[in-house]
Amino acid sequence: MSVYKITFSPTGGTEKIASRLASVFGDVHNIDLTDPAADYSRMLLNPDDICITAVPSFGGRVPAAAASRLAKIQARGAKAIATVVYGNRDYDDTLLELQSILTAAGFRCAAAVAAIAEHSILRQFAQGRPDTEDEAQLNQFAGQIRDVIEADRISGHIALPGHTPYREYNGVPIKPKAGRGCTSCGLCAQKCPVGAIPADSPSQTDTKACISCMRCVSICPAHARSVNPLMVAAAAQKMKKSCQTRKENELFF
Ligand SMILES: Cc1cc2nc3c(=O)[nH]c(=O)nc-3n(C[C@H](O)[C@H](O)[C@H](O)COP(=O)(O)O)c2cc1C
Repeated sequence: MSVYKITFSPTGGTEKIASRLASVFGDVHNIDLTDPAADYSRMLLNPDDICITAVPSFGGRVPAAAASRLAKIQARGAKAIATVVYGNRDYDDTLLELQSILTAAGFRCAAAVAAIAEHSILRQFAQGRPDTEDEAQLNQFAGQIRDVIEADRISGHIALPGHTPYREYNGVPIKPKAGRGCTSCGLCAQKCPVGAIPADSPSQTDTKACISCMRCVSICPAHARSVNPLMVAAAAQKMKKSCQTRKENELFF
């Protein structure tokens, strides 16, 4: 039996939640779904493997790059803890969609978790989360999930919030750009989950390919990449009402 943490985490919030859930399972292997060059179809799992499969909610949906990479994994009955991380607005259809993708790939969903982390574009929302309260709750969730798996009480299909057809999501217009401080080190090009930054000209961005995940902004060692502050302020104003009240983590069996 092996334990895998399979995550798509451009700015680290999803990774934090997945690590907390994985902490009760001992040795964990990491599978990074943000690598566009990886061949996920070569990943073969076994029925006794346990996988914490975690993605962020983008527009209430599973990010398309994460969806297509997860779909390639040959799960062969491996157990999944379907985990969605969101920035305190809503996850809408993300968890329902994730369960469907995992089931189609051959996973058996043992549990599903919706958890909150700092909003990666509108950083004032869910700031500082997961916090100590979240960590204690996620530890508790992890223990409950381990008990269900150990007792082999896996239903395989979990009733989850969300609707089909899924919410339409066509991206957001907020695209990071490189400023004068760009040293052309190329780290952003190397780490972009969708190859939207050309390696030979990292100050450019292919705005059609860019998914606005904010990884390039968060990892730039020169802090040279940023988004238009006016657009961010306008989006924050629009979202204020739906993002302000603290949302709580949820566990489903
Ligand atoms: C393009 C984009 C769309 C997002 N859409 C939503 C959303 O619909 N609802 C929400 O609550 N948070 C939303 N968020 C916030 C992320 O789900 C949240 O910050 C998550 O923790 C990001 O994961 P990461 O830190 O692993 O990159 C969005 C973030 C981005 C970048």
